[in-house]
Amino acid sequence: MKPKVTVAKHPMILEQLTLARDKNSTQVVFRKAIYRLGRLLAYEFLRTMDTEEFEVETPLKKATGYKIKGNDKIVIILVLRAAIPFVEGMYKMFPLARTGIVSAWRGKPPDFPIEVSYVKIPTINNDDIVIIADPMLATGHTLLRVADKVMEKGKPKRLVFFSVIATKEGIEYIAKKYPKAEFYTCAIDPELNDHGYIVPGLGDAGDRAFGSPY
Ligand code: URA
Repeated sequence: MKPKVTVAKHPMILEQLTLARDKNSTQVVFRKAIYRLGRLLAYEFLRTMDTEEFEVETPLKKATGYKIKGNDKIVIILVLRAAIPFVEGMYKMFPLARTGIVSAWRGKPPDFPIEVSYVKIPTINNDDIVIIADPMLATGHTLLRVADKVMEKGKPKRLVFFSVIATKEGIEYIAKKYPKAEFYTCAIDPELNDHGYIVPGLGDAGDRAFGSPY
């Protein structure tokens, strides 16, 4: 089964992605670009949601009104720390979302051991749409562990991964275990280097958004 992947190529997404990739973008510009990409990707995702009709009265006449169905069923899982500005942008489109926070850390190559040190996820109901948000879907190892943590809290109706940049390898790694998962991203880059960084990518998203701890 082929993974369900959407690469959003709205001109504004392309422009913000370029700012995020540019090594000369300052921390402020980088963070703002990631914030906007979160908002824009969420906007694209809303196309997949149904609307319900109701009657609304304008000052002149009755008209058909629309409400997004299920916007209160969205649960965002924020993967620390690079997803902070990304999720902040997503809230603009998903104002009613509940939020889970997971701190997951990928160790050194070649094994890339994953350390998960903080998990706070709300109860997941079977009509929920869970969106796991991390700007970089690289090897997929970290996000697979995060998805496993989500599944311990309940089985959602839809399991979705939001990233700014993904790799085919990472998507396939996750899809092997979660074949019905959906992937929304702004780009699929061709390579992973020996350190597990996406190439050309944008570098270390956490460091670029918040500064390097080293
Ligand atoms: N995490 C990042 O921040 N960048 C990558 O390229 C891969 C993982």
